[in-house]
Amino acid sequence: MEFIEYLRTRSGKVAREWGYAYQNVSLKFRSKRCSAAWQGHLGQCHMLVRQELQRVKPKTIMVIGSGLLLEIPIAELLAKAEKIYLVDLVHDRNIRALAKRHPQIELVEKDVSCLLQNLKKGQGPFQLKNIPWEHLSSWDLPKVDWVISANLLSQIPLMISESIPMTHSTYQDFARRVRDQHIDRLIQQGDEVLLFADFETRYVVHNQNRLKTESYNVNLRDLEFLREWIWEVSPYGETSKDYKVEMLVKAYY
Ligand SMILES: C[S@@+](CC[C@H](N)C(=O)[O-])C[C@H]1O[C@@H](n2cnc3c(N)ncnc32)[C@H](O)[C@@H]1O
Repeated sequence: MEFIEYLRTRSGKVAREWGYAYQNVSLKFRSKRCSAAWQGHLGQCHMLVRQELQRVKPKTIMVIGSGLLLEIPIAELLAKAEKIYLVDLVHDRNIRALAKRHPQIELVEKDVSCLLQNLKKGQGPFQLKNIPWEHLSSWDLPKVDWVISANLLSQIPLMISESIPMTHSTYQDFARRVRDQHIDRLIQQGDEVLLFADFETRYVVHNQNRLKTESYNVNLRDLEFLREWIWEVSPYGETSKDYKVEMLVKAYY
């Protein structure tokens, strides 16, 4: 089923080559398999976006990492905003159909790391040393009243590291730089910002003890903490029968 859906998913060459098109399909199927476990997380995301929508009252909105819009109450955004940009490397057919029905929506297919054009999949980590960080292309997107970074901060470097083998310490340095860059660009993109993302991954066994906890650092500049919650991203049996995976999701504005 996933393979058939993958064939039906339109995307650019870069998204296909680097695995983002498949990841989009995988997210769709996983969200169905794990719908009970994900309910709380999706509810938290919707409530957060709704509350901030009331506060900011934007005319123009940009959602970065729009994906399948699982985490975004799009009907409410459509009811309030004049223009909504959905930015992602992949827009599946449901999102394309939605955009067709609502001319307020503009789909933008973009790599927000601006790195994929500079890197070669499968080649060694030596290329990371030559990244022209100061000269990477800009996002080149219109400035908006409100920009939302919708649960992709942790993933931007992770997806790249799955295609370029690198040591743990090389990854740590690379990921920090990519994430810091994301925050810097986000702050410049909108008058108001909402960022939510997973900041910690916990592998929990049946007696509730943790096998492992992973987290990362990022410079959040002057963004202010709003709230946090737990997302049971992989209930028992999804990744392993022996442990479940939980993420600590945090939101900032
Ligand atoms: C966890 S999903 C977010 C789900 C989405 N917010 C939703 O409501 O369905 C992360 C999204 O970030 C996108 N993404 C990851 N890296 C990206 C990049 N470098 N440029 C653009 N989009 C990226 C992925 O394609 C994916 O749709």
